Amino acid sequence: MTGDLPAPHPAWLPDEAFRAIGSRRVLLRADGLLAQTVAHEVDRAAEQHGGSLHHQPARQAAPHPDGDDAEGDSGATDGSGAADEPRFDLVLALTGADDLPEPAVMVLAELDRRSGRDMLGAEGFALARRGGVTVVLADGPAGLLYGLFHVVRLGEAAFGATLPIEAHHPLTARRMLNHWDNIDPHPVMGQVERGYSGGSIFWRDGRLTPDLDRVRAYARLLASIGVNAVTVNNVNVHITEAHLLTDRLGDVAALAGVLRPYGIRTHLSIYFNSPVTLGGLPTADPLDPGVRAWWADTTRQVYAAIPDFGGFVVKADSEGQPGPFGYGRTHADGANTLAAALEPFGGVVHWRAFVYNHRQDWRDRTTDRARAAYDHFAPLDGQFAGNVILQVKYGPIDFQTREPVSPVIAAMPGTRLAVELQVTQEYTGQQRHVCYLGPLWHEVLAFEPWGDGRTVAAVAAGRGADNGATGFEGGLVAVSNVGDDPFWTGHPLAQANLYAFGRLAWNPHLDPAAVLDEWIDLTFTPAATADPGLLRQTLHEVMDDSWQTYESYTAPLGVGFMVRPGSHYGPDVDGYEYTPWGTYHFADRDGIGVDRTRATGTGFTGQYPQPWAQVYESAVSCPDELLLFFHHVPYTHVLHSGKTVVQHIYDTHFEGADRVDRLRSRWAGLAGLVAPDVDARVRERLDEQSRCAQEWRDQINTYFFRKSGIPDAAGRRIH
Ligand code: GCU
Repeated sequence: MTGDLPAPHPAWLPDEAFRAIGSRRVLLRADGLLAQTVAHEVDRAAEQHGGSLHHQPARQAAPHPDGDDAEGDSGATDGSGAADEPRFDLVLALTGADDLPEPAVMVLAELDRRSGRDMLGAEGFALARRGGVTVVLADGPAGLLYGLFHVVRLGEAAFGATLPIEAHHPLTARRMLNHWDNIDPHPVMGQVERGYSGGSIFWRDGRLTPDLDRVRAYARLLASIGVNAVTVNNVNVHITEAHLLTDRLGDVAALAGVLRPYGIRTHLSIYFNSPVTLGGLPTADPLDPGVRAWWADTTRQVYAAIPDFGGFVVKADSEGQPGPFGYGRTHADGANTLAAALEPFGGVVHWRAFVYNHRQDWRDRTTDRARAAYDHFAPLDGQFAGNVILQVKYGPIDFQTREPVSPVIAAMPGTRLAVELQVTQEYTGQQRHVCYLGPLWHEVLAFEPWGDGRTVAAVAAGRGADNGATGFEGGLVAVSNVGDDPFWTGHPLAQANLYAFGRLAWNPHLDPAAVLDEWIDLTFTPAATADPGLLRQTLHEVMDDSWQTYESYTAPLGVGFMVRPGSHYGPDVDGYEYTPWGTYHFADRDGIGVDRTRATGTGFTGQYPQPWAQVYESAVSCPDELLLFFHHVPYTHVLHSGKTVVQHIYDTHFEGADRVDRLRSRWAGLAGLVAPDVDARVRERLDEQSRCAQEWRDQINTYFFRKSGIPDAAGRRIH
């Protein structure tokens, strides 16, 4: 089916990015659905750029002179030409294929010698160039798909003189995007909750989208960055969406059918009270035998329709969603009931740890939202079934521009954990501001909760648990930023965040600047423009530090929020200060910040293991950027930087807003080097970012000047 919206922007897979592959002779030795996808990609590139594809099954002699090769040209079967001309330039083959061309045999032998083959797994691949042929080998077709896109990223470099053998495999097994998409637009949240890119790509006019081509194009983008799981509906499950589990399962199966050829498993967010609302049972008590039977039966039917269904994502007892507390049960009880239903089919439950009291009394200084996830879940460690994955937001509050890493990540060695990031820029400029999040995620993933070398990334991969147990694979999950906008993401530069999520989920050790480089090269293909240097340099200038820039003109020093309630866009310093949401800054005439120490505050610092429990406890050792998250200090408190808190606020806000204006001028210098539609959209967004940054600057500076009465040392204009 085709849709009625214009074809979306190619993002990081424009035809030009396939020139190196598409202009060459490619041999593919693999079968099955994913191999077809690889074949389709190569074919499409060859059509554009004049190359050819020779696709042969794995278990059959290599191309026959009269075989099915597209060009009908014959040649040697060993990957090298009869004389000195190579027969193929690129060989993509399963390691189990018979009669492999000589260069592939050489690579396989090298791999075996280095025992690199054990590392490949179902999704990994090996890459090398031997005898003038670039070889990609994989044990399974998913590896070939990922290997193909790796060659796309390398471009001409994949066909240079040499390419030392490299084995690639994902460090995180589960790399998932959660779509907060509603079928029926919510009266307040709209169709995509916290979505800034138009409507849903999955649902339109209350039904499955007729534009499955767009879903296919999306799946292709995701496959190219290694994402292998997707949920197709919001974690806040309303009544229409609850039915996806039962009578609207056909819609989910249709989406799964589009995602499957790209190695992506489909998951559903479910409504905890479904046994009542859909099943007509009197209760959804997870320990009730009838309820357990209902989940088992319903799940069996899901698998009958979608045999590779991934599992459920559950937001329970959170922001109004029902959960086990409603029946006097624990979250382990709730999660395990769903897990039991999924277990026979190999499915998993992603159970979210985002549980807190959103009806807090602001007068009560003892209740601390930051503590909530740990208080609820840490005591349950070891009680979750083996196919439950606890999905924990990276910070203890809610995707703020700057938060410490959640202490839950270090607290549950006997539980599979997935770390949840937010690609959609709810609190980071809503895709109207440039905010490249790669550096933020890199910091989170590289954080060492125990200060001993084990990182958050390792916990997500399942290698952080100190109990030596295997089978603790967790994952990395992120809330998607995609919609039916022609550029997918509203702000064209926000595509980089989706790209970076996939790449960092595959390999959390990647340098975010290098990831950005990849994205720039693929998306803007600078080499094909009049001034590659200027294009690359300007994009880096605009994007590299954009997270710090955003941070500098918004809420200071880790205090968080200060956004307009509801929309979460733009400044409103006291917007949440007297609300039930538990997100306060406690600014008064003398100082600001939340005392979360054990000594005098909420005790949150005690949820961290050493060294952090101690580092965060003391205002002296606490890093500047998190000072106000952990401490209430006077405006005259001197930071490690040597500045007082209030002067830091003034300086960063003036500088941040100025920096946005400089970036806007830099972008203007790209005229002619960027496609006009992209250029126009980015300019429009930079104008808004500039306006909004000034508003932030003026409201924040004025607020703190009025509170503290302390003038700016540089005498700049404060209102
Ligand atoms: C944030 C966001 C909500 C979302 C929630 C969640 O609070 O504002 O819209 O539902 O996170 O993660 O469940």
